[in-house]
Amino acid sequence: YVIGVDLGTSAVKALLIDKEGRVCGEASRAYPLIQEKPGYNEQDPELWVDAAVGALRELVTVSDIDPAGVEGLSFSGQMHGLVLLDAGRRVLRHAILWNDTRTTKECREIEAVLGDRLLAVAKNKALEGFTLPKLLWVKQHEPELYAQAALFLLPKDYLRYRLTGQIAAEYSDAAGTLLLDVAGKRWSSEIASACGIDLSLCAPLVESHANTGTLLPDIAAETGLPDTVNVYAGGADNACGAIGAGIISEGETLCSIGTSGVVLSYAGDGGADYKGKLHFFNHGKADSFYAMGVTLAAGYSLQWFKDTFAPDVPFEELLKGLDETAPGAGGLLFTPYLVGERTPHADALIRASFIGMDASHTLAHFTRAVVEGITFSLKESLELLRESGQRIDSLVSIGGGAKNDSWLQLQADLFEADIHKLESEQGPALGAAMLAAYGCGWFGSLAECASVFIKRSRTYRPRPAEAAKYAELYPLYKRVYADTRELQA
Ligand code: XUL
Repeated sequence: YVIGVDLGTSAVKALLIDKEGRVCGEASRAYPLIQEKPGYNEQDPELWVDAAVGALRELVTVSDIDPAGVEGLSFSGQMHGLVLLDAGRRVLRHAILWNDTRTTKECREIEAVLGDRLLAVAKNKALEGFTLPKLLWVKQHEPELYAQAALFLLPKDYLRYRLTGQIAAEYSDAAGTLLLDVAGKRWSSEIASACGIDLSLCAPLVESHANTGTLLPDIAAETGLPDTVNVYAGGADNACGAIGAGIISEGETLCSIGTSGVVLSYAGDGGADYKGKLHFFNHGKADSFYAMGVTLAAGYSLQWFKDTFAPDVPFEELLKGLDETAPGAGGLLFTPYLVGERTPHADALIRASFIGMDASHTLAHFTRAVVEGITFSLKESLELLRESGQRIDSLVSIGGGAKNDSWLQLQADLFEADIHKLESEQGPALGAAMLAAYGCGWFGSLAECASVFIKRSRTYRPRPAEAAKYAELYPLYKRVYADTRELQA
């Protein structure tokens, strides 16, 4: 067996998988966000460790297996979070998370000192969520604390350290710091020195499938797992989500609709230049990359809509509205900018709109407009990938958005691409388990592992009339951002 541990933003999930890729057990434990001020999002790293150990113990208890058969364990984790440690490897402050937006000033400073070099080396724009602006914020606002800092780790790298005693970082998460030379696969002394950061704060880099030791004896005793379990480095949640959906070779693209939504495409080399319009990160598969666009409020928009306007209607019922209405929602258009937008606008201030309300509109029209607005927003990321010269005729769709047949068909029509659904979908935790399975030597490559672990079930194909209607509406959707921007700034 192998275990994949996904350290998410709201909970940690542990997944037990056998050699045929079957799920043999699952356990999760939640932890809170700490939001002391608007825009602040922090977490106590100690709670991650408690939750992960608790979830692993439960996994061993609920699954009817001999724990001696567990050979490997690896991680997926929420990206970008800053865990700051002193020389004694004690945590200096709560972790500042990916969804914390306090660092706008630091982002502008990074852009000012690095200019074009930031995109040339780190391949990404400076965004509030990334780690380097957080380091600069602590340096500026908590200098006495920063003076004690000897090391920073990403969330799942800290969890791995606590489970194994070994310090390591890996490329897919390091790419989300802004301190990595993404194509060159090394910490960038150019970026660090321009920003006044000492590179000795960065942990040694390894590949995602690299062995990073075994479980510490006390962790083994607490979880019921043997202390011989080999632990592999793991990857960022988006990289692991891609691995777990089989997005590991040229031409493969993923659409994932959870709270936020992403469209992500595999890239075999690091030379691509999206001019910062898309994120470009190292993959969890060695020496490869992926480009990604993010819709901040994807499933979140639908959740908000349901909670606000139809709290007593179950989701399945609400989504029947898709079958009762036609593409275009009777002229009603929604933009999903409830919490600002990342791709393509990188605009924290823009807010959502409903446009074109008519007295004949029903709850079903509104539901359809919300679902279409989310999907249009993801199409903008897809179009950026297409504009770079990639031909994207098909996508694998996962997450909440892949649970409803009508929404999957809508994705096919609106994206003008085939949409593949997976037989069973375990998200980033499966990608982490696959890294462990590959690390253990069960398979000669991740591709071999994917051929055993991942099965596609149904394919949804674009229907010409519906696709034509969406092609007509898409330019209107795009205009709403420009036309409402001024009203909302
Ligand atoms: C990616 C990002 C999020 C986090 C969520 O850039 O900020 O997807 O990885 O865990």
